[in-house]
Amino acid sequence: MKLTVIGTGYVGAVHAACMAEIGHTVLGVDINPDRVDLLNRAKAPMHEPGLDELLTRTVASGRLRFTTSLAQAARFAGLHFICVGTPQQPDSPAADVRYVDAAVEGMAPDLRPGSLVVGKSTVPVGTAARLAARLRQVAPQAEIAWNPEFLREGSAVRDTLWPERLVVGVSSARAEAVLRDVYAPMLRGGVPFFCTDPSTAELVKVAANSFLATKISFINAMAEVCDAAGADVTTLAQAIGEDSRIGHPFLQPGLGFGGSCFPKDIRAFAARAEELGAGKAVAFLHEVDEINTRQRRRTVDLARALVGGSFADRNVGVLGAAFKPDSDDVRDSPALAVADAVRAEGAEVRVHDPAALDNAQAAFPELKYTSVVPEACDGADLVLHLTPWREYAEIDPALLARVVRRPLLVDARNTLDVQAWQQAGWCVRALGRPG
Ligand code: NAD
Ligand code: UGA
Repeated sequence: MKLTVIGTGYVGAVHAACMAEIGHTVLGVDINPDRVDLLNRAKAPMHEPGLDELLTRTVASGRLRFTTSLAQAARFAGLHFICVGTPQQPDSPAADVRYVDAAVEGMAPDLRPGSLVVGKSTVPVGTAARLAARLRQVAPQAEIAWNPEFLREGSAVRDTLWPERLVVGVSSARAEAVLRDVYAPMLRGGVPFFCTDPSTAELVKVAANSFLATKISFINAMAEVCDAAGADVTTLAQAIGEDSRIGHPFLQPGLGFGGSCFPKDIRAFAARAEELGAGKAVAFLHEVDEINTRQRRRTVDLARALVGGSFADRNVGVLGAAFKPDSDDVRDSPALAVADAVRAEGAEVRVHDPAALDNAQAAFPELKYTSVVPEACDGADLVLHLTPWREYAEIDPALLARVVRRPLLVDARNTLDVQAWQQAGWCVRALGRPG
């Protein structure tokens, strides 16, 4: 099939490449000409494992190319996936849907009769219905559907080619048939396919993210109680996770969630529910958010106490800048929020990250950066482990002990082998664990 993907960021670039990989002919569109130029040269605009290889293969096959022209895209195919951003509004917790509106409005005059416009962006429930009403005025033969995206950064290619489920919200049997056709290779592999109305599909997405964020804040709330009681949250998490009704995933205690999605999605969901008169039903999401941001403050407090009550004249080595490993995304990164708070209190901070240094530098220019772990920790009074990259679990703690001034470590992600670090002479502290 021929299709377009509008917006080629973390979701769109991967979706476009994966659709080409399964045999479709794809035109990707972005308003950012530099991004389009990179993608046409088969270069991924972000760090995402497997994406460069996939782009190289699919661009070379002739099935994938990119443009800045929405009009060209509208005429290219009868199926369009909208993958533009829906960030938080600058002065409100609600989602900013202006990019979705602009993409649909921009294509509308040139859409072929019978076109299907499929939203993948995460939007407030009711967006598809609103856009459908708008399209009825400007492109009466076009149709809107919603097909939320569940990929995770760092495993986006795998999540797209082998999803755990597909959810489509449609208003006609024809739209369902088109989407079944597009995803036929996945469906042949037995992927569960939920076909519902657009509002339910929109809600499935924000409900899933809200549940996952709640799980993380739940375990971080337990870490606070463990701190008060002198108990160990990592053992608690493992023990409750063994209950198959609870499960282990998303019970990793520590610095909490960041990124471009969980924080803004739970705020936008609460704001939309309020508008609908159902604010009380999801009022707990405010608490989920508050618990989450509190872990950043608690981490700074723990670090300050360890260096003697003040960061003035202290050197702090930071391991990690990205909001999660295997990604260069620093949007609402807990690691950078902590690093910058420590810097603002007077510490000399040097940050290491395997992939996110350029983005980090652009977002927090006052921090110092290095691509070499021992350089980040050279002469440090304290090392903060803030993003759980695999390579940090492979550090030789004895070697690192030789470069620091004091072997003091905060393992804010609870992924390091504490015993090994202690045996190498380190004092290791973490939220929710006895000191
Ligand atoms: P992003 O900011 O990385 O990319 C958005 C892209 O859209 C940018 O390249 C931008 O230039 C482009 N764009 C904006 N307006 C445009 C227009 N009118 N025409 C063409 N291109 C336009 O965003 P993202 O992280 O890929 O997220 C996209 C959506 O998917 C959001 O709603 C997000 O909540 C949702 N989502 C994201 C993830 C994730 O892991 N990042 C996962 C699932 C869902
Ligand atoms: C998340 C969801 O997992 C995806 O399903 C969803 O599509 C996406 O949001 C989205 O809508 O954008 P992502 O943000 O890429 O994906 O990454 P996650 O692996 O979910 O991690 C999110 C944050 O939670 C990270 O900062 C991570 O460090 C933190 N986290 C995760 C924890 O603190 N503890 C955990 O147990 C798990």
